Amino acid sequence: VKPAEIAALLRPRTPELNAVRRRLARCHAVADLRATARQRLPRGVFDYIDGGAEDEVSLRRNQAAFAEIDLVPSYLQGVADVDLGTTILGVPSPLPLALAPTGFSRMMHPDGELAVARAAGRSGLAYAVSTMATTSIEDIAEVATGPLWFQLYVWRDRGLSKELIDRAKSAGCHALMLTVDTPVPGARERDLRNGLTIPPELTVRTLLDGARHPHWWWGLLTTESVTFANVSNRAAEPSGVMAYVARQFDPALSWDDIGWMVDAWGGPFVMKGILSIDDAERAASLGVSGIVVSNHGGRQLDHTPPPVAVLPDIVDAVGDRLEVLVDSGVRRGSDIVKALALGARAAMIGRPYLYGLGVAGEQGVAHSIDILSAELRRTMQLLGVASVDQLSRTTVQRR
Ligand SMILES: Cc1cc2nc3c(=O)[nH]c(=O)nc-3n(C[C@H](O)[C@H](O)[C@H](O)COP(=O)(O)O)c2cc1C
Repeated sequence: VKPAEIAALLRPRTPELNAVRRRLARCHAVADLRATARQRLPRGVFDYIDGGAEDEVSLRRNQAAFAEIDLVPSYLQGVADVDLGTTILGVPSPLPLALAPTGFSRMMHPDGELAVARAAGRSGLAYAVSTMATTSIEDIAEVATGPLWFQLYVWRDRGLSKELIDRAKSAGCHALMLTVDTPVPGARERDLRNGLTIPPELTVRTLLDGARHPHWWWGLLTTESVTFANVSNRAAEPSGVMAYVARQFDPALSWDDIGWMVDAWGGPFVMKGILSIDDAERAASLGVSGIVVSNHGGRQLDHTPPPVAVLPDIVDAVGDRLEVLVDSGVRRGSDIVKALALGARAAMIGRPYLYGLGVAGEQGVAHSIDILSAELRRTMQLLGVASVDQLSRTTVQRR
């Protein structure tokens, strides 16, 4: 075999693939994916992912709260083999991690939710598909190889909510996740200042931006238009869909509605956005399978407590009756370790995989999962813990 033949075999197939590999090889942490996404995406799109509500106090404190927790190692524990596996909602998962529901993913990359579902499936992780997805639940289910959950926003039109529940069931979703922290959308002021529209419209401003991010605009303009694919059968035009959505979120939703949803679903039912012991108790008394302690990544009510700070008390109150998951601010494998040590069954991530999606589509999402997985394994080895079920409160210490 000649050296040139070996070189040809080793050379990536296309220059494009090569560029993606090089771009990702420079991203060693989620923070690097964020910095690269910031360069590659139009400002309005990056800020839509990255921003929070109002003064972004909750957004900042979510990460700060993880930094306030110390890890206490115990050495010489024999950590050559580390088992990162667990079960989430009764299904084995290779990592104590799931991908949180996020809307509008086709704005970050033309492959959008399909890229996320493929990457999640490659790692065997669960992916919660948002009601506000820009790909239909049926199309996502077709490519998903890992567990799918469906995240529901309840609509004034209960017929539409019921229809979504039925479609999620027919598509084979394992769990229904009701988000409770969105009676009205939070005030994301970055989006208002940037004049963000969905889908992005061609204006002088966006044309100028197009010159700086041609690859992104090319992707947007050469693929199917970005719309809320799960509900677009209700309104023909994208702008019509936006108006429909704004009118349809139901602020009157109450605890009285949980019963019919649990019954209509008939499988694992999770409430996302719980932050108080009282709400957690109420969820447990209604027989739900799990809760996600979450402040929506600081995008809804500003000045809420960081979820990881309220997690231990909530676990103490209801942890024997339902599974407690947590999200908001997870950026490192060590954050997942802290969440588990404080009693969470698993952590979820939103922005970390979206930064990856914006940087390199499916490969970027997979890279974000690989980074967190490697960090999780290394942190456990450095801590002297060989399996996730051995993580306990003795592992952590609040500063
Ligand atoms: C761009 C974006 C869109 C989101 N869309 C939804 C959504 O449609 N439904 C939902 O329940 N949560 C949504 N979330 C919240 C996430 O599910 C999750 O709670 C949050 O991102 C976790 O915080 P993290 O981003 O710090 O990981 C969204 C978050 C982001 C960043």
